[in-house]
Amino acid sequence: MHGSPNGSPATPVTDIDGARFRSVLGRFATGVVAITAIEPETGRPTGLAANSFTSVSLEPPLVAFCVAHTSTSWPRLRPAERLCINILSEPQLEVCKRLAIKGGDKFADIEWSGSPNGSPVIEGALAWIECTVEQEHVAGDHVIVVARVHALDKHHEGDPLLFYKGGYGRFDG
Ligand SMILES: Cc1cc2nc3c(=O)[nH]c(=O)nc-3n(C[C@H](O)[C@H](O)[C@H](O)COP(=O)(O)O)c2cc1C
Repeated sequence: MHGSPNGSPATPVTDIDGARFRSVLGRFATGVVAITAIEPETGRPTGLAANSFTSVSLEPPLVAFCVAHTSTSWPRLRPAERLCINILSEPQLEVCKRLAIKGGDKFADIEWSGSPNGSPVIEGALAWIECTVEQEHVAGDHVIVVARVHALDKHHEGDPLLFYKGGYGRFDG
């Protein structure tokens, strides 16, 4: 074990407690996206909220996000021809919470319209990014999904929904 700069022993690299992991990683502020698609089986929109979204590459245009193996929405989203990443705005907290609940018709109270390719773009989102799954990498209890961007646009103007220390906040820029 190596010492830390203040002389106390550093945290061992094994045996990381889940609560500690979450509280330390929660100090990394993120935005929140809604990953949506038209479910091929029902023809209805579905989705999930995620803060693990990131831009990856411009040439080719790639983005990525991580999905838990326990997600019941991902197996319904995955077979869709296109996925749509909706960047959520601060007034969309209820949309975020709705899409984070397991089960039921997640879109029952959510207003949306079709992108030019028919993907679900949620009313009030700051932007949408339409993509297809390019690679999937199993990483522990999640899968890292790398997706190729085919179309994207700004949508509404406004402030982003931020996720920090397990709670929601706003950007005071
Ligand atoms: C702010 C926020 C961020 C989330 N980020 C992720 C994420 O990056 N990956 C993930 O698999 N689930 C994430 N979730 C959980 C999913 O939104 C959802 O609750 C989970 O997939 C269970 O629902 P499902 O069974 O319908 O998929 C997040 C939830 C919230 C509220």
